[in-house]
Amino acid sequence: MMNRNFRMSGRWRAKWIRSLAAAAAVALLLALISCGTVHRAVVVLPEVPGAKYIGSKECEQCHDKLCRDFATADHARLMAEGPNARNVGCESCHGPGSLHSESGGEVKPPYAFTAGRPQASSFGAQPALQPARATQTVCFQCHPNVRGQFGLTSHHPVPEGRLSCTACHSPHKGSIFRAGGTSLLSENELCFGCHPKQRGPYVFEHEALREGCTTCHSAHGSVNAKMLKIRDANLCLRCHFQQVNGGKLLIGGSDHTLRLQQGTCWTGGCHEAVHGSRVSSALRF
Ligand code: HEC
Ligand code: HEC
Ligand code: HEC
Ligand code: HEC
Ligand code: HEC
Ligand code: HEC
Ligand code: HEC
Repeated sequence: MMNRNFRMSGRWRAKWIRSLAAAAAVALLLALISCGTVHRAVVVLPEVPGAKYIGSKECEQCHDKLCRDFATADHARLMAEGPNARNVGCESCHGPGSLHSESGGEVKPPYAFTAGRPQASSFGAQPALQPARATQTVCFQCHPNVRGQFGLTSHHPVPEGRLSCTACHSPHKGSIFRAGGTSLLSENELCFGCHPKQRGPYVFEHEALREGCTTCHSAHGSVNAKMLKIRDANLCLRCHFQQVNGGKLLIGGSDHTLRLQQGTCWTGGCHEAVHGSRVSSALRF
């Protein structure tokens, strides 16, 4: 099978092209469907020579619980727009599952995230173990904009393999946001799970945190240090208005004319305890 893929006979090639064309048609249909309802993501179905799409119904036989839960998952809902879309729910991330299913689970699905037996159909002759696939490679297929975010200078270390998309996103069950939907406080809980220092307790909390950590930080990555959305005083001035009064620049009622020249609001010995303070209502250490 592998060698035939390399040196395709005319008939084989025609068959291969036909199946590619069929798959492309499905992908196109999906893309059309998704274009009507969504804006940022694109739907690209992975192609794996030799493996066919068999539909999520088939997965139920052996992954009963996962399939039942999947009905509640965001990606299940997103894919359920048309007949083809519904059929490839699981396989949109794991790749076409025919070989996996036929082998009773012995051969890994094309996109599995642990190392295992090689795909019978993979290109390249070495019978090496199929390496574990990084989660994000699958996600990036449909979320190319997110790949860009993780390429920025300050980012969560997903590309470095220290964190996976699924640390914060839940692909199989319920909201894709592990924090639990859109609640800002529960988003903070997600962040506190790995950043307990920012939780406090504080004597003087900074009310900005109630708006959620992502008021100031990008969740994935940013060109600014510490993944800040804005690199200078404007980060703070969105909520703390400045007034000019008698030649003085006032913020929070106090004169900031000289202070603003010393650096950002959180450096230069000013509001370093930007998340909250134990000693000073002006957010100092
Ligand atoms: C005939 C039974 C069977 C069917 C049908 C089946 N699987 Fe599996 N699958 C298994 C077995 C067995 C395992 C290994 C379970 C384990 O090691 O815990 C497995 C493991 C997996 C894994 C994890 C691989 C890893 O990283 O270890 C994924 C992903 C998966 N299946 C996806 C699917 C999808 C998607 C479908 C439907 C297209 C499907 N399976 C259909 C039996 C099946
Ligand atoms: C949005 C992408 C996505 C979809 C859709 C998806 N999965 Fe997964 N699946 C993953 C990722 C990512 C992992 C790796 C586990 C992790 O990092 O938490 C995984 C892991 C698995 C595993 C092995 C680990 C485990 O949790 O048991 C199985 C089995 C599995 N998926 C089956 C399925 C089945 C069956 C469906 C459809 C009902 C499905 N997946 C739909 C992304 C997806
Ligand atoms: C087959 C294509 C496809 C794959 C693979 C895929 N997604 Fe999605 N995803 C979509 C579509 C389509 C949407 C809905 C469009 C949108 O809102 O941007 C979506 C929505 C999302 C959303 C919610 C976006 C919002 O603004 O509400 C998140 C988060 C997400 N996906 C994360 C992931 C992660 C993490 C993975 C990998 C485990 C993954 N996706 C894999 C197609 C895909
Ligand atoms: C540290 C936690 C974390 C990690 C790791 C993470 N995300 Fe997110 N992601 C979030 C949060 C929080 C949001 C909501 C952002 C907001 O509201 O500003 C989000 C939003 C999204 C969105 C919707 C908004 C958009 O930019 O399109 C997608 C899609 C997404 N994530 C995909 C991914 C993928 C793919 C990965 C892995 C490469 C990943 N995420 C890793 C926390 C995370
Ligand atoms: C699963 C664990 C995990 C979760 C959840 C998580 N982070 Fe992180 N975060 C990390 C790791 C790991 C680093 C890299 C730390 C390092 O390099 O020492 C990091 C780095 C950061 C940094 C940059 C620190 C620096 O020194 O540059 C900021 C800011 C940050 N995270 C904010 C957040 C926010 C906001 C959330 C919630 C949306 C969040 N994190 C959720 C693990 C996590
Ligand atoms: C009002 C804006 C703002 C909000 C809201 C905010 N942060 Fe920050 N955060 C900052 C600034 C500014 C820095 C940089 C501080 C510095 O460089 O000393 C920072 C730094 C960090 C760092 C790096 C700390 C270090 O020692 O390097 C982490 C982690 C972090 N924030 C997590 C969070 C979490 C988690 C939340 C939500 C609970 C949050 N932040 C909410 C402004 C904010
Ligand atoms: C999402 C809105 C928001 C952002 C962004 C924000 N703050 Fe705040 N901040 C508040 C609110 C609300 C209060 C409490 C009410 C008040 O004192 O104005 C507060 C209070 C403060 C206080 C205490 C004032 C006092 O005298 O008690 C300081 C100092 C402060 N913020 C500094 C900052 C700095 C520095 C930044 C930028 C890193 C920042 N804030 C960004 C909303 C915000």
